[in-house]
Amino acid sequence: MRCCDELGAVSDESGRLTRTFHSPAMRRANRLVGSWMRAAGLEVREDAAFNLLGRWPGTRRAAKTLLLGSHLDTVRDAGKYDGPLGVLVALAAVKHLKERGVTLPFHVEIAGFSDEEGVRYQTTYLGSRALAGTLTRADLSRVGGNGIERARRPRGEFLAYAEVHIEQGPVLEQRSLPVGVVNTIAGQSRLRVEFRGEAGHAGTTPMHLRHDALCGAAELALAAERCGVLATVGKLSVEPGASNVIPGCVELTLDVRHQRDARRCAAVRALQTKARDIARRRGLRLTWTTVQETDAVSCDPKLSRLFARCVAARGHEVLTLPSGAGHDAAALSAVCPVAMLFVRCKGGISHNPAESVKTADVAVAIGVLADFIQSLASRHG
Ligand code: HGY
Ligand code: MN
Ligand code: MN
Repeated sequence: MRCCDELGAVSDESGRLTRTFHSPAMRRANRLVGSWMRAAGLEVREDAAFNLLGRWPGTRRAAKTLLLGSHLDTVRDAGKYDGPLGVLVALAAVKHLKERGVTLPFHVEIAGFSDEEGVRYQTTYLGSRALAGTLTRADLSRVGGNGIERARRPRGEFLAYAEVHIEQGPVLEQRSLPVGVVNTIAGQSRLRVEFRGEAGHAGTTPMHLRHDALCGAAELALAAERCGVLATVGKLSVEPGASNVIPGCVELTLDVRHQRDARRCAAVRALQTKARDIARRRGLRLTWTTVQETDAVSCDPKLSRLFARCVAARGHEVLTLPSGAGHDAAALSAVCPVAMLFVRCKGGISHNPAESVKTADVAVAIGVLADFIQSLASRHG
């Protein structure tokens, strides 16, 4: 918990927590967490996608690697647990096992992924997709091809990926449970929408002669609110941005989510049709760009049952629940089976500095993850 506090002060912005892909604060965060990994006896390195990696070699050289961890980047004005808690719980669980002289037949690596939130380029999972080898040409051109694709790991190297993460929702708190096992991760569509109208004088242009790009964008935002799935306009930029000028051009981001891909894609199509209608009626030009589509992912049933057994063995009721948030586990599912353990967070608040967890719940998560690793070892012994 002290480490979460210390890491929570490593920010690109004064007065609030923001760490974006390969920023100065991200470099400082990698150095700080890397020092904690080194102190725990791990072999520490940073890969070509600026993912921090701490390795605990197993007893068998040719064995596969169990990958643990989460992301170290944050949203703007973030809480200090979304991402970092998963990295630090993995580190605490590994330390717990090493201090007890445990040796494992497989290697263990803890990843602090470099860009899960996608704040810098709006594309998410840059770090974990680089490691999985699933970056697209569009990703590489957007990131300015600084060789991050060299982070790709050989196919078949990973035994599994297990991630601990705050729930970022209210269910565990409502059920008075410290942890829960994730069954599915919602799919998400990230879009960029531009309405281009005509800047004009706020004092001389009659209302019926305007091509106001901001009013068009506002209509689409309200349509998104009513579209029947989780849809969010998180960012909106208005040009030229003066109080006495009718907005000539507005760009907005659209984030659409659902546990079922067909529902999400239907909602995106309906919103695109609506955007075309708005543009036609208001004499605006529409540019609709799909930045990224990530399908819903199911966690591996066997690994999830193993997590459930470890939760029950520590005397806690087992709840399995879906994740509305995206996680690096979604990216890693392309190359290995994945499992996730959620930790209760106060009021389900996240992507907000008020994010908080109880030390006792984090202790449960550390114990469950340590047991999960040992149970996996006994199956691969
Ligand atoms: O947006 C998400 O679902 C995650 O926090 N990146
Ligand atoms: Mn997040
Ligand atoms: Mn997260």
